Amino acid sequence: MQAVILVGGLGTRLRPITYDIPKALVPLRNQPFIGYMMDMLRAGGVDGVVLAMGYLPDQIQDYFATREDLKDFPINYAVEDRPLGTAGGIKNAERYLDGGPLVVVNGDVLTGTDLRSAIELHESSDSLATITLTSVEDPTAYGLVEVDHDMVVRRFLEKPAAAEVTTNLVNAGIYVLEPEVLCRIPAGREVSIEREIFPYLQARGKLRAHVSSSYWRDIGTPRSYLAASHDVLSGAVGAHEGFEYLDIDPSTKRGKNVRLLPPVSVAAGCEIGHLATIGGRSSLGRNCRVGEGAVVEGSILLDGAEIEPGAVVRGSIIGPGARVGQKAIVRGLSVLGAGCVVGESNVLDQGIHINPGVVVPPRSLSF
Ligand code: GTP
Repeated sequence: MQAVILVGGLGTRLRPITYDIPKALVPLRNQPFIGYMMDMLRAGGVDGVVLAMGYLPDQIQDYFATREDLKDFPINYAVEDRPLGTAGGIKNAERYLDGGPLVVVNGDVLTGTDLRSAIELHESSDSLATITLTSVEDPTAYGLVEVDHDMVVRRFLEKPAAAEVTTNLVNAGIYVLEPEVLCRIPAGREVSIEREIFPYLQARGKLRAHVSSSYWRDIGTPRSYLAASHDVLSGAVGAHEGFEYLDIDPSTKRGKNVRLLPPVSVAAGCEIGHLATIGGRSSLGRNCRVGEGAVVEGSILLDGAEIEPGAVVRGSIIGPGARVGQKAIVRGLSVLGAGCVVGESNVLDQGIHINPGVVVPPRSLSF
């Protein structure tokens, strides 16, 4: 069975990181996110994918060109010249599809779900589409899906108030579709599968649910991206056999009294003074530098990020080539865009820094 991976979104909630890197390529433990998605699909029996793309498509194609292990795996690219939405993107991919049932996945979902059981359930029913659902702790932040005792979808509830919550099941962004569904999607305009196609199928009793209790998280916000990174580093998810928990490139320079608590990933060229991962697992990209006495906890440092001596980074995302000056503090889910600089001794708390030309000066609190 073929799969369409939807990777055409702008990823606005993960800006400024997604100004430079499409969400599908943000790294988790130094592997682009979409690598985990490909593992999940192949483990589920998918034998070819079409990437439905629009935003920064070249970067995604370039990444797959480097994947030697996928050179015999059929991958096609359907590029939209303007965003066509989650159903429009599937329609635009139709020319690469074989006309049979297909899997569709949102390209920002990290999950250990058993795709085979979703496909089997779909094949054993007369539904036109099967939608995988997962349970969440705070249903008010999501679109909820009510099902009846036969697992036929009964109602959609978009981000309900607490008093209106009737279920904790949400759309996990993984679908199995009959080819007839594609005939329902108008070509050449933006169409949402969640808002236009699923309600049509639900009204005709042709939409069924597969409930998964496996790990599931989308990586669409700074908070969920940090949480997903932590989960991958702790081994809660990730299909990679022989997962190395302490992964330090031999060229990494380590100073005195360096404490590296596994699992931690330190790539080539890092200079590490004092790195503690006590408060949460941290991930360091290629060519990061962490100066003496600096502390990095529960954070993601993307390629080439630099943490100068004595600086503290807690629960934050430091973009590619960004710099945290000496003794500066970055904390509270702050996000630094590519090349952005937080000046010496500054505190950035719950801040988003998007302008690489501006050095956040000392003593200015968050902005
Ligand atoms: P936000 O802007 O932060 O909401 O992120 P997003 O643009 O990724 O939107 P959302 O999280 O709702 O999208 C869910 C999935 O659908 C993601 O994998 C997106 O890449 C994908 N997607 C959203 N819009 C489009 C589109 O117009 N075309 C295609 N091909 N994919 C899309």
